[in-house]
Amino acid sequence: MTHLFVVAGIHIVNGRLLLARRPLTGDLPGLWELPGGKVEPGETPAEALVRELQEELGVVAVGPEPYAFRTVTHGERRLTLLFLAIRGILGTPRPLECLSVRQATRAEAPLLSLAPPDRDIVERLVAEGFRDTETVETPRLLERAREEGAYVFGSESLGEEPLTFVKRRDGRITRGLLVRTSQGPAAYENTCPHVPIPLDRDGESLLSEDGRHLVCNNHGALFDRETGLCVSGPCAGERLRPIPIAPEGDGVRLLP
Ligand code: FES
Repeated sequence: MTHLFVVAGIHIVNGRLLLARRPLTGDLPGLWELPGGKVEPGETPAEALVRELQEELGVVAVGPEPYAFRTVTHGERRLTLLFLAIRGILGTPRPLECLSVRQATRAEAPLLSLAPPDRDIVERLVAEGFRDTETVETPRLLERAREEGAYVFGSESLGEEPLTFVKRRDGRITRGLLVRTSQGPAAYENTCPHVPIPLDRDGESLLSEDGRHLVCNNHGALFDRETGLCVSGPCAGERLRPIPIAPEGDGVRLLP
């Protein structure tokens, strides 16, 4: 008999539990489950959960903590399931390796066709009142996760207005901005060559009225969004420092 270790994530926010529907082929076809999967050799359960949710739903699970475990026999396999409460999620869950996702209420969840290994846990969550797994610590955990990962959150839906971000790289803070160009997204350090402070202030737009230039909100320098070259203002002729990026999914990540 094979023995597998499996992790599953419990994320409840505003009284809604995140569930994923299994593909119509393979094991337990079409049933709803708590998202997760097998722990690979060398992984901790928390690392496995983070990886599985990235692959399955395109999100980053933050602050997983043990909630319950159980052992079940499924055919020729013995499964040890560890359920982890997730303190927060970065990104919007979407069905990358599952059929669909939903956020089920306390009334809806028990009525769904749930995978047998998860049914008891969902019933226990219902009995406990479907308490949110997010806590007062969640915003701080999310902020930290947003800063530490290479992926630039929000880059998947980059619009005309540049996106500012903060990253911790090699032990130092990098403030950056991501902007659309004719060649795709480009990233620059969000530090003005005139005075080494960020270009943005008080939520003002970083785009000139005609949309062709980035504007430093401090003293009005204009930068060509395609090249980062300052074309007007006190630092004319100088450039915003570029940050190397690479595509990741629908967005971008910073290169080391
Ligand atoms: S700090 Fe940017 S123009 Fe002065």
